[in-house]
Amino acid sequence: MTDSITYPHKPVMVNEVLEFLIHKPDGIYVDATSGSGGHSEAIVRSLSKKGHTICIDRDPDAVKFTSRRFSHMADRVTIVKANYADIDSVLNSIGIRAVDGILLDLGMSSYHIDRSGRGFSFLKNEPLDMRMDPEDDLNAQDVVNDFSAEDLVSILKDYGEESRARAIVRAIVRERKKKRIMTTFELADIVSSAIPPSRRFKGKHPATKTFQAIRITVNRELYNIKVFLEKVPPLLRSGGRLVVLSYHSLEDRLIKRTMVSWERRCTCPPDFPVCICGNLPLMTRIQKKGVKPDKKEITVNQRARSAILRAAERTMP
Ligand SMILES: C[S@@+](CC[C@H](N)C(=O)[O-])C[C@H]1O[C@@H](n2cnc3c(N)ncnc32)[C@H](O)[C@@H]1O
Repeated sequence: MTDSITYPHKPVMVNEVLEFLIHKPDGIYVDATSGSGGHSEAIVRSLSKKGHTICIDRDPDAVKFTSRRFSHMADRVTIVKANYADIDSVLNSIGIRAVDGILLDLGMSSYHIDRSGRGFSFLKNEPLDMRMDPEDDLNAQDVVNDFSAEDLVSILKDYGEESRARAIVRAIVRERKKKRIMTTFELADIVSSAIPPSRRFKGKHPATKTFQAIRITVNRELYNIKVFLEKVPPLLRSGGRLVVLSYHSLEDRLIKRTMVSWERRCTCPPDFPVCICGNLPLMTRIQKKGVKPDKKEITVNQRARSAILRAAERTMP
């Protein structure tokens, strides 16, 4: 029915995702980053015919993939093009108040890197764009050419954890005075030129952190995760699960801190004379430690290398 040529992304830690996410086979589940639908399909297959899966993605190409993939089961799958930060309005618009599980698989899909033509990779010469939703206003060219040097330094430090941020931004500013920086190769070359030759060829490509930082800025990735996490607990039914796969420390730190904060018991304001919240955690982590993929998966799927899975369960009186 489906093949890896039509659907270019190999989903990560599928068995672990299902193990943590699915606890009620006739429940309603949301794949909030459905991409080409690999995890979504695994979810659909593990539910009974009464179960329902809602696929959300902000990328119109991803929505086309899933629409095609699930065209034969429209009664069991609902597909919505949206930002997962708007998950509450998405559910509201289809008349659902709460669900049994939500999956968030962060970052880019292989489609973005290999086929989108939108400049996500420094290994391909493409226009500097990096928008997951091509209808968004801000693209990577705007960030690189129009943001102040100060803002660029903060972006590279905060979202790329780039220790050479100042030198890289000096090189960008020098070059953009001559002409607008338009392509991935131009940017990658400028970044490389700012790294001393002795370090340039060691380890990862010198532009890795810069590209990550710009992509996070263009797509407001950390902001969207924060907004989404604030909305999740009340959207889960009692016992409902949230499963998150993240791929770098910035994302994982945010997920972990939020899940820890949900476990704090009384959430009443300090000046309340008596507890009115029930003294129960909003959500409880299903496993304290993040779960990593096994070695076998990493050998067949490079993308799994940096994955870490965290899961929490809705607690209600
Ligand atoms: C790692 S891929 C998911 C792959 C998917 N699990 C699969 O099996 O094919 C991440 C997806 O999240 C989408 N995405 C990123 N940010 C988003 C957001 N704020 N709202 C909705 N989708 C988003 C991307 O367009 C991409 O398709």
